[in-house]
Amino acid sequence: MAKVKVFRCRICGDPYIGTGAPTQCPFCGARQQYFVEAKDWNPDEFKVTLSDMARNNLRAALQLELDNATFYDCAKNAAEKADDEYSLAKFKALMKVEREHASAILKFLKISQPELEKLPTCSANSQTNTQEGWKRENRAIKAYAKFRDKAIESRLKEFFGALVEIETDHLDLHAENLRQMRV
Ligand SMILES: [Fe+2]
Ligand SMILES: [Fe+2]
Repeated sequence: MAKVKVFRCRICGDPYIGTGAPTQCPFCGARQQYFVEAKDWNPDEFKVTLSDMARNNLRAALQLELDNATFYDCAKNAAEKADDEYSLAKFKALMKVEREHASAILKFLKISQPELEKLPTCSANSQTNTQEGWKRENRAIKAYAKFRDKAIESRLKEFFGALVEIETDHLDLHAENLRQMRV
């Protein structure tokens, strides 16, 4: 068996121990290409001089992530009440990933977590929540694609590009579940 090593994800910064980098970051969902060995980690990854536009776009992304994380928390609790183990697992994983995105954004902004002005609600029904999750991921993908294309900081272009890939994985997951529910 190959020896384990320490890796770090360049999108969320979290460390991972394994014989190789994972196909998806277990914390933020970023794809394998964003992992580096911990010994090669650049401590300035989150030290980016932000333009006003970058700051505004990161703040908008933060609101989206916090809102989506709170929605998935609600959806997870609803699935738990309904004894729907699959939806419980899915919504819990999504809640954790979206929280991780919010904390990565906070590292760029160098601020502490703001309170949400209005807490999102969810349905008691996991199919309805899956539909709502699809809409939320779609909204996030559109916003992040715009932020990626407009960013003048190469690091933020990369960061928003990685978020587009991750949220697209979530969108595909919801779409696949909705297809199965219709059968
Ligand atoms: Fe990550
Ligand atoms: Fe996210």
